[in-house]
Amino acid sequence: LARPLGIAAAFHPASSWWTRVEMGPPGQILRVTEAFKRDTNSKKMNPAVSPYVLPRVRKAEAQIAVKNLDKECIRIGALAEFCKASAEVALVLKSGRVVTAQTISGTGALRTTASFLRRFLKFSRDVFLPKPAWGHHTAIFGDTGMWRQGYQCYDSKTCGFHFTGAVEDQSLLLLHTCTHNPTGMDPGPKQWKEIATVVKKKNLFALFDMAHQGFASGDAYKDAWAVRHFIEQEGINVCLCQSHSKNMGLYSEGVASFTTVCKDADEATRADRIISMRTQLASSLKKEGSTHNWPDITDQIDMFCFTGLKPVQLERLTEESCIYVIKDGRMSVAGVTSSNVGYLVHAVHQVTK
Ligand SMILES: Cc1ncc(COP(=O)(O)O)c(C=O)c1O
Repeated sequence: LARPLGIAAAFHPASSWWTRVEMGPPGQILRVTEAFKRDTNSKKMNPAVSPYVLPRVRKAEAQIAVKNLDKECIRIGALAEFCKASAEVALVLKSGRVVTAQTISGTGALRTTASFLRRFLKFSRDVFLPKPAWGHHTAIFGDTGMWRQGYQCYDSKTCGFHFTGAVEDQSLLLLHTCTHNPTGMDPGPKQWKEIATVVKKKNLFALFDMAHQGFASGDAYKDAWAVRHFIEQEGINVCLCQSHSKNMGLYSEGVASFTTVCKDADEATRADRIISMRTQLASSLKKEGSTHNWPDITDQIDMFCFTGLKPVQLERLTEESCIYVIKDGRMSVAGVTSSNVGYLVHAVHQVTK
């Protein structure tokens, strides 16, 4: 690989590598915003976006500013307080069944969810998007390689929600929790209950996208009722993507999250544990005083951790501390727990200092 790259770099300017990348279509909102900016009419309005920044958001910003917070690295799932608060806006968090990760914008939440389902659940099944679909749903799920299908959710005859379309045979069903984009038509409570019954009976996966919480009824908690109802039915797999771009007026900040609702606390711990174990491994090594040049453990994905330890160091680990690691230095993070992480880190530090 090194040779062709070297030759190409010698004869072409770097930019030529990107000539095959086609220009994407202009974003509609951006186009309107640009036109708005150019317009010199004093009465101009831009109802396409212009989020209203809530006074409470301004107050919170001021409180954060005086705290002079550091910019320390945080755990991969991001700020625990934020994740808890974000999920609590919609759900009742019972017995640790919920795992939430911070994402960059609602679009990022959807992208993360799609990749998560694809990677960890080996989701090769079809994803059913509402028809008409929000354009980004189509692009996001297309990118992950999932097979996109559609279910009719808008009835052009009644200009209302198309109930029968939503309960036909599907596997991964994407549902707008409230104010469906682009039609604004939602199922009523009775229809939601029927949809939940079908989803449970057919063992479908329910993925809720909630980007307009609070705008349907004026009551944010009420707008998330459908998600809670699905969870209460027990036995339905539920994922929730939340965007706070609109309801907090935080468009430019990309404040959002992705939540998986697990069967029980044990299942939730398994989803969350590997990530937190990586962070614990890294921080414990630092605390132990290790100056060894470690690969970035927290950046690695999946259940394995590549330590970069040499065979002689691995042998010492086994001889001195009875810790058994395969020859390439790869450990399974799944086997590291809060009760043995200290022992492991101390032993590893002894053979690497
Ligand atoms: C249904 C739906 N999901 C997700 C999003 C994306 O949210 P964000 O702007 O935070 O990326 C939007 C934004 O318009 C939306 O309408």
